[in-house]
Formats: sequence, structure tokens, C-alpha cells
Amino acid sequence: MPRDPRHDILFEPIRIGPVVAKNRFFQVPHCNGMGHTKPRGHAAMRGVKAEGGWAVVSTEEVEIHASSDVSPHVEGRLWDDGDVAALRLVSDAVHEHGALAAIELAHNGMHSSNLYSREVAIAPSPICVLGSYTPAQARGMTKADIRAYRRWHRDAALRSRRAGFDIVYVYAAHELSLAMHFLQARHNQRTDEYGGSLVNRVRLLRELLEETKEAIGGDCAVAVRFAVDELRGQDGIESGGEGREVVAMLADLPDLWDVNLSDWTNDSATSRFAPEGYQEEFVRFVKGVTRKPVVGVGRFTSPDAMVSQIRRGVLDLIGAARPSIADPFLPHKIDSGEIDDIRECIGCNICVSGDLTSTPIRCTQNPTMGEEWRKGWHPEKIPPRSGEDSFLVIGAGPTGLECARLLGRRGYPVTLAEAEAQLGGRVTRESSLPGLSAWARVRDYRLQQLNKMPNVEILRTSRVAAAQILEFGATRVVLATGARWRRDGIARANLRPIAGFDRAGVLTPDELMAGMRAPSPVVVFDDDHFYLGAVIAEKLRREGLDVVLVTPAERVSAWTVHTLEQRRIQQQLLELGVRIETNRNIVEFDGSRVRLECTYTGRESSLAAAAVVAVTSRQSDDALGLELGSQPEALAAAGIASVACIGDCLAPSTIAAAVYAGHRYAREFDWPQSDAVPFRRELARTTD
Ligand SMILES: Cc1cc2nc3c(=O)[nH]c(=O)nc-3n(C[C@H](O)[C@H](O)[C@H](O)COP(=O)(O)O)c2cc1C
Ligand code: SF4
Repeated sequence: MPRDPRHDILFEPIRIGPVVAKNRFFQVPHCNGMGHTKPRGHAAMRGVKAEGGWAVVSTEEVEIHASSDVSPHVEGRLWDDGDVAALRLVSDAVHEHGALAAIELAHNGMHSSNLYSREVAIAPSPICVLGSYTPAQARGMTKADIRAYRRWHRDAALRSRRAGFDIVYVYAAHELSLAMHFLQARHNQRTDEYGGSLVNRVRLLRELLEETKEAIGGDCAVAVRFAVDELRGQDGIESGGEGREVVAMLADLPDLWDVNLSDWTNDSATSRFAPEGYQEEFVRFVKGVTRKPVVGVGRFTSPDAMVSQIRRGVLDLIGAARPSIADPFLPHKIDSGEIDDIRECIGCNICVSGDLTSTPIRCTQNPTMGEEWRKGWHPEKIPPRSGEDSFLVIGAGPTGLECARLLGRRGYPVTLAEAEAQLGGRVTRESSLPGLSAWARVRDYRLQQLNKMPNVEILRTSRVAAAQILEFGATRVVLATGARWRRDGIARANLRPIAGFDRAGVLTPDELMAGMRAPSPVVVFDDDHFYLGAVIAEKLRREGLDVVLVTPAERVSAWTVHTLEQRRIQQQLLELGVRIETNRNIVEFDGSRVRLECTYTGRESSLAAAAVVAVTSRQSDDALGLELGSQPEALAAAGIASVACIGDCLAPSTIAAAVYAGHRYAREFDWPQSDAVPFRRELARTTD
């Protein structure tokens, strides 16, 4: 399809110092849990982005010295010449598709655990090592330390050029970089020429920019990533104050300004807390203060919103981390007028959880993310059918939809049968809850694709029984029937049913999502620890009920530390007036009160409760699978070669895991069974 002429402006080339970006799509730095430990996986992932049309593809933050060791997190590493070859893989993969390769040089200062290197952390002034409760402190840097740091940075810039990069970033953002720590008055209490006034605090960043330009500026563009606002009022940098002044002081020194918010939780805000374009109000001043191109971010997935940013003079380049993860081919799809085919990021930050759990990146919308090298998966290229199979996929939740989409793309005849009138399963149910409307994109993208496939038939309100499956005529049956929330309280803290949870008055999230009302006061018992318990509490509170959230964990939605949401979630509940009881297990519900037990002391207390919502664990809807599995002869007689139970109906997990399960089945059902590790690994070198 031809490109919509309204989007032409997005494809104009932009000069950045000595290099030219072929269009305005800029994949800003994002970590991926592969970095220096899995360089082939990392390179292949960046290569796919370049292939998808991004003019610039950046690395994640790349540690420049052993005193910036952020273990156990896995970032890029450029400590010495030994790291150049791994980064060369990245720039080569990016160049292969005509994009520019950018590298973000980082020293994390007092955010470095140095757990691997055992170096002493450094900071502008002595301070605790931040970011965790690591029992260590950073020492204040001497002038000699500052000179050494500048030398490391210059050396890293030279190595970056040798590694083939076109754009070299000086990083002063996110409260994660030494250059930023020097800018922040609360962290920089120096009394020499590097502390005190803003002119002094900006000195180090200026020197880094000047020295990087002097070292490599003839060949490479020098970019700065700077957080113009920390959203902490006068205690931090503010876009109306020092943020603006810093940009004005350095105005035309860098070749490119990449401006955003700090800290990371503000920058990568989830859709629950920030809409597309949420950074505009903070960064829009920048273009008025510099003549250099400006890139900014804000979970941009709509080409019209991107065009608007440029036409209104907010940005020159559209920066994206998550939209490029959810759809590495986003620029290509806009270029070829395939707007409906864009797989829009849902803003859930599962991608961030890879970094925070030190594992390869994954994405809810894009199951191929992180699998480009180790599984050879490509987001747009799918192997054609390998035989004459036909498929009956039962259940049109995230697993069934993705499975049918991919089998359909492979060219197989597919029937997708859904018991309900609505498609989408859990994503449809959950997207009706406060803040989760973007979850529906998981369904909408897949339906959009399925509706174009003549070889896929979708049957709604079609609950199928085993006998019908045997008669249907498909050679393969895929059960993706999902899971339902348990009512008995069994999860982590309680391995047996909770006394009284068989009474009326105990509700499940499924019942609330189906429209059932809870009486007040209501206790939400969250032994699930991801987002849903808090979302249910929020919903009930917004309906005017007195709500207490009880959790055996030490904080609300404990796992959401990995999606950068935990603080906001707890803050929001407190502000809404939800009472929070942490470190408490429910041991009994008598119809009007719940009996609680302290998870440390066992000491008892109680709360009034007309109802309890059990957000505990889920039970797979696997009855059909068990029934079919018990009839091997009938299956053989019906010509059914396999029955597979996948996704939540096998074992409940995240939506990302559900989508992955559907995708994996469709790619791998025709592989020979084997005990081999199901992906390529990057093994540690045993020789120097
Ligand atoms: C998984 C992930 C990892 C990130 N890692 C980095 C990083 O290494 N360095 C950096 O400057 N920003 C990092 N960011 C922040 C992004 O560059 C970006 O500023 C932010 O996500 C907002 O842009 P978006 O809405 O397009 O995602 C990361 C973001 C994500 C989602
Ligand atoms: S994991 Fe979620 S937030 Fe991250 S890119 Fe994918 S859809 Fe977007």
C-alpha cells in the first residue's frame, strides 16, 4: 500500500553532526537482559529493529569501567578492548540494514553495585549505594578521580568508534549516571569547581561532551541524553528551572539532544499511569533553546501523534523504546501504509522485567522479542506450512488468538472456537478494569490480522465438547481455554483452602469482571502479588466501598517492582483511601469478619468484612484436555494427530507468557520431539 502522504514528514532525513539519519525514527537506548553476556542475541535483536526501518538503533547503557558494574543487571560493557568485538556484532547487525548505530556510554556512579568487580563505587560526594539496600557506600571523588573518569569516558568513546558506532551518547539521565549525579544538587555537595552553582555542577557534563567531540567528533555524532525533569519538585531538576538552564548552557555543544524524564519509573511510565505523549509538557521547551536536533519519547505508537510532535515543533526525531520492542517494524509499516498492522505497545512494562530480573527481554505484544538469535524467530517472517494439517484452536484468549494468527500466517486452515460471544478472554475481561484499557490491544491487533485471513474461521459462542472435537475433522487440536480465579484462597501463603472461603460473600476477580457487585466493607486478599489485586481494590474503592487490601507480602503488588509500578500503585491506593494491611495472611472468614495472622509472629487480629475478594491463584480450564487425553483410541480413529494444551490452561501465568505459548506452538508443533535445549545458547568461553 502507498504511504499516507500525511506521514511523509516522518521519512525526511535528519542530519546529526557528521552523520545523517535516513528518517525520523530513533530507537532510543534500552536494555534487554542480553547485553554483554549474550552478544549474539543482543546483536540479532538490534538488527531486526534496523531491518524494521528505524533510522537509528541504539544499544542500552554501556558500562565504561569496572567501577560501573551494575551486576546482577546485564547491560552493555566496554571496560576495555576485550569488549569491542561483542559490540561490533551490534553495529554490524544495524549497518546491514542501512541504519545508524548509537551507543550509550554510561558510568552509573553510586548506582553501581560492583558486586562482580568489587571496586568501590564513586559519587560526587560520599553517599550510600542507591537502588537497593546494598550495605555499601560510594566514596566522594577526588579531582584525580574526576580526571580518571574523563579519561575512561574518552577511551570508551574511541573504542566505540572502533566498534563501528556512528553516534556516541554522553548519558546524564535517569539518576543512573555519574554525569547526572554531578548535576543534582542533592547528590553533589562539593565545594570545589564541580559543585555548588549550576555552572559548576554542569562542568563535568560539558567536559565530557567537549572531550568526546574532540576524540571522535569528526566521524561520529555526539549525543547527550539528559533528563530535563525529575518530577520531584524543587528537590530535583525541573524543566522550568535547572533543566532548562542546563540545555541553554550546553545548547549547541552536542550534535543531538535526547531529552526525557527521570527517574526510570517516570520515564518508562506504564499505560496505567501515563498516556501516549506524556513527556511533551516537560520537553517541549528544548527546541526553543538549541539549534540541534531533538529526540524525545512518550510511548509513541500512533503515526498521527508522531507527525503532530514534529509539526508543532516539539521534536525532530521520534524516540521509542517500548514501541520498537512491541513492533520492530513500526517505521516500515507506516512507510508502506500498513497502519492497521502496527502491533501497538500496551504499556505493561513486561519488557522492563527482563532487565530487573537479569533475564533476556520479553514483550507481551511481540513474542519474538529476545528470541531473534536463540530461536531464530523473526517478528514478520514466519516459515510456511510444512504439511497438510488442519487445526481446531479452542479458546480465543491471548494464547488462542496468537496461535490462530500464526498458524493462519503459515497458511494452515484454522478454526478458532470461542465459548463466549466476546473474543479476547482474559485481556477483554481485564481491559474493563481501571487503567487497563490498553490490554485490549493484545486482542485487537490479533483480530485485525485474523480478519484478513480467508483460511481462518472464527466461531463465537461455540462451546465445544469432546464428542464434537472428535467429529470436527481437524488433524490437530489446540486447547487454549485459559484459567479462572480460585475461590478457596489457595496460592502462596495458604496451600490448603482458607476456612470459610466456601461461604457466600467470597468473590473472585472473574465474578467482579463479569459485573457482580461487592458489598461494603470489602477485603481484597492479594496473594497473587502482580497487578490485579490492587486494580480490583482500586475499582471497588472508586465504586465507593470501604476497601482493605490484605497481603502476606511486605508491600502491595510486590512483583510490580519489576514493571516499575510498585510505588505508584501503593501511592495511588493510599491516596484513594484504601487501607493496606501488609504481612498479613487471612486464616478465616466467618461471613462478617476476616481473621488475620501476622506472617512473622502469627499474632492474630481481625477486620470487618461483608465480602472478601480472593485474588490468589488460578485454576486451569483443562477439563477438555484431560477428557480428550483419556481417549487415545478415539483420537486416532478421528485422525487427530495431536491434542495440545497451551497457555493458561496448561499453567496460568502472565499475558506475555500466554501469547508466547500460542506463538511457540504455531512455530514448533511440527518440530521433532527431542530432549535438546529448545534454543541456541551463548556458552561462556573457556579459552582466552
Ligand atoms: C526495557 C527498557 C530498558 C531501558 N533501558 C534504558 C537504558 O539502558 N538506557 C536509557 O537511557 N534508557 C533506558 N530505557 C528508557 C527508554 O530509553 C525510554 O526513555 C523510555 O522507555 C520512554 O520511552 P518509550 O515510551 O518509547 O518506551 C529503557 C526502557 C525500557 C522499556
Ligand atoms: S512488554 Fe509491554 S510495555 Fe514492553 S514493549 Fe511489550 S507491550 Fe510494550
